[in-house]
Amino acid sequence: MPATKPMPKKITTAIKPKSATPISAARYPKVPDLKMPLPGPKARAVVALDDKFVSPSYTRSYPMVIERGLGLAAEDVDGNVFLDMTAGIAVNATGFAHPDVVAAIQDAAAQFAHMSGTDFYYAAEAELARVLAEHTYGGVERRVFFSNSGTESIECAIKLARWYTKRPYILSFRGAFHGRTYGSMSVGCSKAIHRNHFAPLVSSVVHGNYPYLYRADPHLKTEEAVVNDCLSYLENVVFAKEVQPEEVAAILVEPVQGEGGYVVPHASWLPGLRKLCDKHGILLVFDEVQSGMGRTGKFFAHEHFNTVGDIICTAKGIASGLPLGAVIAKKEIMSWPPGSHASTFGGNPIACRAALATIKLLDESLIENTREVGAYFKQRLEEFAKTSDVIGDVRGLGLMLAAEFVKSKSSKERNPELRNRVEETAFHRGLLLIGCGANTIRFCPPLVITKSEVDTAMDLFKLALKDAQA
Ligand SMILES: Cc1ncc(COP(=O)(O)O)c(C=O)c1O
Repeated sequence: MPATKPMPKKITTAIKPKSATPISAARYPKVPDLKMPLPGPKARAVVALDDKFVSPSYTRSYPMVIERGLGLAAEDVDGNVFLDMTAGIAVNATGFAHPDVVAAIQDAAAQFAHMSGTDFYYAAEAELARVLAEHTYGGVERRVFFSNSGTESIECAIKLARWYTKRPYILSFRGAFHGRTYGSMSVGCSKAIHRNHFAPLVSSVVHGNYPYLYRADPHLKTEEAVVNDCLSYLENVVFAKEVQPEEVAAILVEPVQGEGGYVVPHASWLPGLRKLCDKHGILLVFDEVQSGMGRTGKFFAHEHFNTVGDIICTAKGIASGLPLGAVIAKKEIMSWPPGSHASTFGGNPIACRAALATIKLLDESLIENTREVGAYFKQRLEEFAKTSDVIGDVRGLGLMLAAEFVKSKSSKERNPELRNRVEETAFHRGLLLIGCGANTIRFCPPLVITKSEVDTAMDLFKLALKDAQA
């Protein structure tokens, strides 16, 4: 293993997330800053070691071997500096190593690393539950269960919905990704590889269609018509032919579909689902694992749609990178007895402190920054898409943005090969991107991003596309 460099001196510069100066400027005068052809020698050594010992099921697109970072700057083991548009898959809400988050983690770690919040009490867990309950849309009393990840939050929601309603079925949507454990894999429906050879799955799951405007039947002329078509499929096909609604515990839905391609539904979708749930006594469960925690410019994405959820699942961005998930349910629903659900590590005290520091930053400035810089970023992407025949659609909310690659605008034929090449060429330009869906690039940078960083990202993205088409 190559020896790692000593940590540079502590960053003490006051960081104002809304300022025009990127946070990374305190350590990195130039971002990106590539010093050699990639991957460098130390990166190659780590990749070789990883190839030998780490599960090949992981989905790496290019050999980025990070050593440290600050804000949106990610430095690799060879000293190359990249501009990050991934936030470690929509996780690093406050960027790498935000000093407030680092301080909270260090302070908590020096006190105690673990005491099992399901068997003992500590203030950070109770306080975080209060903060999450109070931040959740709807003005109703809530209780919180803590997990360690998105998939565990979904498992909790499935169990809670079945427990509360005493009904077996879960209805979810094609294109949805909810995680990789058995319950979440069974309700998910985004890529067949996720399920290949893993059956038998958890039973009593049915799927509906998600209103994906760009890929909808061209006969459906308006966004409302696309939503109505999806809603009527639930009533006229699923509830008429597959399962009676009285058997359905929950409708589980991503307010903005994430891994499926950053698909933003029309404003009438979630209210339509709420109506259907109320009509049939079904719980409405929002998977906000990717779309939550300020990512779309509201604390939770479902706030954009003015729709109250019964159970909300969150994880990813909640603790700026520490593993934590939370399930926030209406108080009367989360009334299960002691022993019915728990987790040794869920609600880890260090992760809870990181989450409290993260939410403070979201409230102080980052959600507002997400709205402002996200709108600017989307506009830049849309302007560029007008000039390119291979970007068929630009969509998104806040800093959950995407560009869908096609062979041509007229055919709309998916172009996954070009999308994959762009990820690779962007890496060689110093820009970190990741895909979603079959042929889409997502832009989900840390919420501390500045407009100048958007400009740099756009310049590099354009060059990367040119390289990929060469
Ligand atoms: C919407 C959604 N739900 C659940 C998950 C699963 O989260 P995790 O990987 O933390 O288990 C993901 C992960 O990408 C996700 O995007």
